[in-house]
Amino acid sequence: MPRFLAACMRQPVDTTPVWFMRQAGRSLPEYRALRERHGILDICRTPELAAEATLQPVRRLGVDAAILFSDIVVPLAPMGVDLEIVPGVGPVIQSPVRARRDVDAIKPLIPDEGVPYVLEAVRGLAATAGVPVIGFGGAPFTLASYLVEGGPSKNHSRTKAFMYAEPASWHRLMERLGESVLAYLRAQVAAGAAAVQLFDSWVGELSSEDFRSYVLPWVGRIFDGLADLDVPRIYFGVGTGELLADMAEAGPDVVGVDWRVPLDEAHRRTGPRVALQGNLDPALCLAPWEVVEPRATAILAGAPTTGHIFNLGHGVLPETDPGILRRLVELVHMRGAEDGRG
Ligand code: CP3
Repeated sequence: MPRFLAACMRQPVDTTPVWFMRQAGRSLPEYRALRERHGILDICRTPELAAEATLQPVRRLGVDAAILFSDIVVPLAPMGVDLEIVPGVGPVIQSPVRARRDVDAIKPLIPDEGVPYVLEAVRGLAATAGVPVIGFGGAPFTLASYLVEGGPSKNHSRTKAFMYAEPASWHRLMERLGESVLAYLRAQVAAGAAAVQLFDSWVGELSSEDFRSYVLPWVGRIFDGLADLDVPRIYFGVGTGELLADMAEAGPDVVGVDWRVPLDEAHRRTGPRVALQGNLDPALCLAPWEVVEPRATAILAGAPTTGHIFNLGHGVLPETDPGILRRLVELVHMRGAEDGRG
């Protein structure tokens, strides 16, 4: 079994597997060249281009997994949401979801009809990538935050206001998004994805109490709904130190940890039944290698003996030198083997 999948299932491995969130994208000159000719949504909607963007970091960096090149908002368009991705800004939604009727207007995703290009990209990649392909989707809270705010936001106050003021509509929104995300992830697995990651990037905005009331049941349904597929399920968010135990309770096989909580402490919080993914601060990769190396080594030293996938605590920053990422992959593979992960 490839070491990335083995580590996700807390099985012994020959060395620590490593990949990077946002490993594809603007840190790579070959991606910037692709973007000169194509819009980001065009790349996402053209299987050959999406596959090319997915494979660029696999070739250059030697990572242990490929993450499908797409965006969390891609499946929202066939659900009737008018959106664009504005460079330097992020996803922008024309008509934000602010009332019950807006929630009711969101259509369920039928993956074969709504996102056939994504499934075709995954099918092609599964046959050619040479490493496991990670499928992914946005989690209900994080998708809702874009839908309600209408775009990126600092403190997600409109989202939370809607959640607190109209709990019935909120739960309906979570249910709709959750059902579609489950269908989307299942379709990616059927197309050949070997693992799935649910990105709940902004859920760290919530307290444990609110996470448990407003989010956990819906995320739990997604992980339950994937259980029969026998692929590792990863749950990731930023600023989730106080939520790690709750996130583990939602039922993933792996919890992604940002850089704010050391992995040994994260392990205490999640308990031993999940693997951990993380957690180098992406900003460290902007520093000289002499600064990066001891910090990466320290992460490996604090990681659980089985069940660690090395990653950053959030996505690669666009200004990152890919040479640093390449050296990180080599370092993790070398040190992980010395540490006797197997
Ligand atoms: O290599 C990979 O990780 C695969 C590609 C990927 C993209 N988006 C491509 C992309 C993945 C996994 C995503 C997920 C995504 N999109 C998340 C969850 C992960 C996270 O970072 O927390 C979120 C919150 C989004 C929403 C989004 N889309 C943001 C915040 C941005 C950045 C805006 C900017 O320009 O700085 C995007 C746009 C986007 N998605 C880019 C890429 C490569 C950059 C824009 C471009 O190429 O024009």
